[in-house]
Amino acid sequence: MPEARTLGEAPGPRGHWFWGSIQERRHNPLQLFLRAHQEYGDFVRLRMGPTISLLSLTSPELIKHVLLDHADKYGKPAGLVRDAWPLLGNGLFTSSGDFWKRQRRLMQPAFHKERLAALAGSMVEATQQMLARWQARPNPSEPLDVSAEMMHLTLGIVGRALFSTDVSGTADRVGQALTVALAETNHRILSLGLYAPDFIPTARNRAFRQALDSLDSVVFELIARRRAGQTQGDDLLATLMAVQDADTGERMTDAQLRDEAMTIFLAGHETTANALAWMWHLLAQHPEVEARARAEAQAVLGGRAPTAEDLPRLRYLTQVFEETMRLYPPAWIMARQPVKEDVLAGVRLTPTPRTIVAISAYALHRNPKLWPEPERFDPERFSPEQSAQRPRLAYLPFGGGQRLCIGNNFALMEATLITAAVLQRFRLRAVPGHTVEPEPLVTLRPKGGLPMLVEPLQVSA
Ligand code: HEM
Repeated sequence: MPEARTLGEAPGPRGHWFWGSIQERRHNPLQLFLRAHQEYGDFVRLRMGPTISLLSLTSPELIKHVLLDHADKYGKPAGLVRDAWPLLGNGLFTSSGDFWKRQRRLMQPAFHKERLAALAGSMVEATQQMLARWQARPNPSEPLDVSAEMMHLTLGIVGRALFSTDVSGTADRVGQALTVALAETNHRILSLGLYAPDFIPTARNRAFRQALDSLDSVVFELIARRRAGQTQGDDLLATLMAVQDADTGERMTDAQLRDEAMTIFLAGHETTANALAWMWHLLAQHPEVEARARAEAQAVLGGRAPTAEDLPRLRYLTQVFEETMRLYPPAWIMARQPVKEDVLAGVRLTPTPRTIVAISAYALHRNPKLWPEPERFDPERFSPEQSAQRPRLAYLPFGGGQRLCIGNNFALMEATLITAAVLQRFRLRAVPGHTVEPEPLVTLRPKGGLPMLVEPLQVSA
């Protein structure tokens, strides 16, 4: 067996003598990852200043090593968990070890396809309400920020899925507080630990505290009212409150319910909204794909509202959404930190927060060995035949292994229903002269929003 190499011997750009690639990571991270892999292959070391190494992977074999075969040797980075903690607490995204395992087991049934089917009606209803608002716009030729529209829609949907109608009346308060809390959490994650600690009362910290208090009071009140039997609902909150640990008989405490609800709120809306926004952008650039997608929606539904039973026949719409997330994966990068010794791609790793293993779905999904002509938008890549020919871990919009997104079926169902409902009534077109650029924050969004022209379709009598 050859000796394992040291981190310093791993391939990758030298970058600046002191800062390494830190500036590029800040200014153009998508290009940094793409170019590094084009030049150095599927395993690349990027230096982030003098002490931090980011190891980026774009081969299914290496990803399998980290996410499946040796998953016990890699954890969520300590910095990410610290920054997300005030908002998400010990929820499913941030927790680890046996506690995470137990929570995942308890929560999994709530996300089974059959349980999710019960949510389809409210997803479509929320979409119809948005479309009614679009229809009633006083000035329909004005561009509409489709990114903001999708964010509002998916926030409403996940709110209803969690709490049934209980959020009505508080929806705006929740929405606003969540926006502030999410923006601050994003800011903290991206500033690599360089922000004023919570005990310093800066304007940012005070606004964050206020938003968290406001969210907590809404969520704890919803839980209390449900416990007191004042409200009912066949929703995720009911499921989370009902589940019991098979060994101990324990149920979740109010604090744990709060953390899980907040996690679902957060993980469950921005990602889906961004993917939908990118899809409308791509459809406007590819009228032939849009025409085929609309024809499918019309053939299957004939003008009526979609239901969960229609989903298997809305196959092309699902492919369009899948191909969108190949080109613009909302979770464009996932990170892990070695928590035990390991040898990865021949390089010896020791447990330290200064080594980050990164899986950039953005770069993986553009690996030409896996995706010929990677920049071409082609939903046929996700036909059953073509999908069967690819390694499973070539496509990771929802991550992989044991930490796979628990909401993947929720998101796919939601996106397909929304798309079918919108395509039957509207055409979304690009605003001439407006350039759309990706902005890789914690999720990948269209920079500065996505203004589009939203035209009602003429319905023939
Ligand atoms: C298109 C939409 C979505 C995308 C692209 C997405 C992406 C992801 C990814 C990549 C992860 C894994 C992160 C990692 O391993 O580091 C994840 C985890 C998670 N997602 Fe999603 N997600 C989406 C929608 C949803 C929805 C709708 C929900 C809930 C209703 C949700 C809830 C979660 C939770 C709770 C986790 C943590 C799971 C665990 O660690 O056990 N996501 N998501």
